[in-house]
Amino acid sequence: MPALKVPKREAEPVKRKLKRLNLYDGKRRPKRVGDFVLLPVVDGDEVSLLGYEVLPVELPLRPERQIYKNLESVLAERLSGEELKHLRRYDVIGDIAVVQIPPELEGRTADIIWGLRKVHPFIRVIAKKGFHEGKFRVRDYSIIWGEKRLETIHKENGVEIKVDLSRAFFNPRMKGERYRLAQLVRDGERILIPFAGVLPYALVIARYRKVKITAVELNREAYELGLENIELNRKRLKGEIEFIHSDAFEVLPELPTYDRVISPTPRGVDALALTLSKAERWLHYYDFVGEAELGDFRRRIIGECSRQGKDCEVRVKKVSDFKPRVFKVCADVVVK
Ligand SMILES: C[S@@+](CC[C@H](N)C(=O)[O-])C[C@H]1O[C@@H](n2cnc3c(N)ncnc32)[C@H](O)[C@@H]1O
Repeated sequence: MPALKVPKREAEPVKRKLKRLNLYDGKRRPKRVGDFVLLPVVDGDEVSLLGYEVLPVELPLRPERQIYKNLESVLAERLSGEELKHLRRYDVIGDIAVVQIPPELEGRTADIIWGLRKVHPFIRVIAKKGFHEGKFRVRDYSIIWGEKRLETIHKENGVEIKVDLSRAFFNPRMKGERYRLAQLVRDGERILIPFAGVLPYALVIARYRKVKITAVELNREAYELGLENIELNRKRLKGEIEFIHSDAFEVLPELPTYDRVISPTPRGVDALALTLSKAERWLHYYDFVGEAELGDFRRRIIGECSRQGKDCEVRVKKVSDFKPRVFKVCADVVVK
């Protein structure tokens, strides 16, 4: 959901005005950022008419509305305290809930379905999550309740993203990362995104910034969904997206260099040298790294920079947990 960036001293009157106009999102908490306050607002064109900057920021839900807590408290009616400890985090993607059911709760599947439907009455499908498979990183899912489909439209950071979990990779948990990158980008940049999937990064950045993006994806099904997503969001996008269906390792050498390169690298693929060679000013390189290897990872990037004759500043940020003591990380590389 969007937020309105308002100078601190104006926050209270603007909040009252938003409430009067029914534009204030009371389910979320405002947030202080320096001399500004981010006020949660409902999606819609009216908020942009108030003359303040509208940002695609996911402000936290107020505690009593936190969804995970709700599922846990709903299930407390049926599951023991010991069983509740095994409950895993789940995702809602469009109208599909995606859950993991650990072996300890296999016998409680019907109760978990009941709980999810109570907390999210709008969901139409509940799917159990398996592992990512193959080079296209498509997960294996089994539908345990509802309509027999894994296609839906997911809303995030002010864009609509058509996904089909059976055909193309999509991770809703990267919403915050996509927002972070959209914040870093400035109007006028030329951006390259290899491994672009159904275009979540490209859409979120182009929604808020007047930029030229070139995206590359090898999985034909993800590519076709991406093309549909450009059309679906056409009226909202400030920036332009050119989408190439190709192997990044074949096409990137043919492409020019860009201000910024964003590489949501598939696991097990080494695209560091290739993506760095295309970055004039910034590279955001994603990878999976063990806690003990974080230093080596940073040194490897610095080594590659000097091999390419680039003077770089490298910051490695943990983005999410992947396995115990293994993280999905993003190396933010500034080419000086
Ligand atoms: C980790 S997923 C990221 C997708 C997307 N950026 C996102 O965040 O949803 C990696 C993507 O790279 C694609 N891919 C794998 N190998 C590729 C290659 N050689 N060239 C282009 N895309 C490739 C996969 O099909 C997959 O969609």
